[in-house]
Amino acid sequence: MMRFQDKSIIVTGAGSGIGRAAATLFAAEGGRVICADKTDGADATVQAIRDAGGTAEAVRIDAGLEEDVQRVVALAVERFGGLDIMFANAGISGGMANIFDTDVALITEVLRVNLIGPYLAIKHAAPEIAKRGVGAIVLTASVAGIRSGAGSPAYSASKAGVINLAKTAAQQLSGSNVRVNAICPGLTETGMTKPTFDYARDAGKMDRVGRLNPLRRGAQPEELAKVALFLASDDASYVNGQAIAVDGGLSSSHPVTKQEYGRTAV
Ligand SMILES: NC(=O)c1ccc[n+]([C@@H]2O[C@H](COP(=O)([O-])OP(=O)(O)OC[C@H]3O[C@@H](n4cnc5c(N)ncnc54)[C@H](O)[C@@H]3O)[C@@H](O)[C@H]2O)c1
Repeated sequence: MMRFQDKSIIVTGAGSGIGRAAATLFAAEGGRVICADKTDGADATVQAIRDAGGTAEAVRIDAGLEEDVQRVVALAVERFGGLDIMFANAGISGGMANIFDTDVALITEVLRVNLIGPYLAIKHAAPEIAKRGVGAIVLTASVAGIRSGAGSPAYSASKAGVINLAKTAAQQLSGSNVRVNAICPGLTETGMTKPTFDYARDAGKMDRVGRLNPLRRGAQPEELAKVALFLASDDASYVNGQAIAVDGGLSSSHPVTKQEYGRTAV
């Protein structure tokens, strides 16, 4: 029996990166996946899933718009008879503007997609999932939401909000059997970070990518998706209200210089 056999699953941001990897893995484990994205990237994800014998459907949504979130939840119920899992993963970086260069329009848009999006996902998915008697919501936050230094002020604030949303929603869904958790990715090679990885590769500087974490590399999307799948699965049946860093160990330490370590172990 596969972990997600016949489960009805929504993945937002499924047209690229972590969302595409998660949708593909959910389907490979028997899930029926609504691949939602604002671009037609979800069509390619769905095609690949179908080519591999899986079940998926693409839908174009803006994850930060309430009517679109309601529409995608209704679609899952209509096509697959209900909803078991929501992976609210869509997000934007909003660029690297500092506080003084960030205008209200920019921070409003980053918060709308990155924070209001997951809020709406919980608001509209949780009641449907609760009808099944058990299920899970996973949100994509970021190490940028844990402390400063991994994104713009707008992005970091949005992701800090997502971390709290996972905790608060888990509490407010008490008694429903709907668990809510978040993943906090570190630097991962996706559409969002393509310029960084492309630049490093072209400049022969890949050894500098992710060098601040003890694994000394960036992540691949599947490494994040696998943790999201764990949190969505019954394997995590007693994990609730948590934000799990998936960052190669980046957030496990305060900044220190190599000299302060003395000799490293290897
Ligand atoms: N890549 C990283 O290093 C990294 C690190 C920490 C957190 N994250 C988070 O991971 C999540 C997935 O991003 P990714 O890295 O896979 O990037 P990505 O750009 O490859 O994928 C993001 C997807 O979300 C979609 N999207 C954006 N805005 C949307 C909207 N309003 N409605 C619907 N879809 C929308 C995009 O079209 C895209 O397909 C995001 O929440 C991001 O903030 C990424």
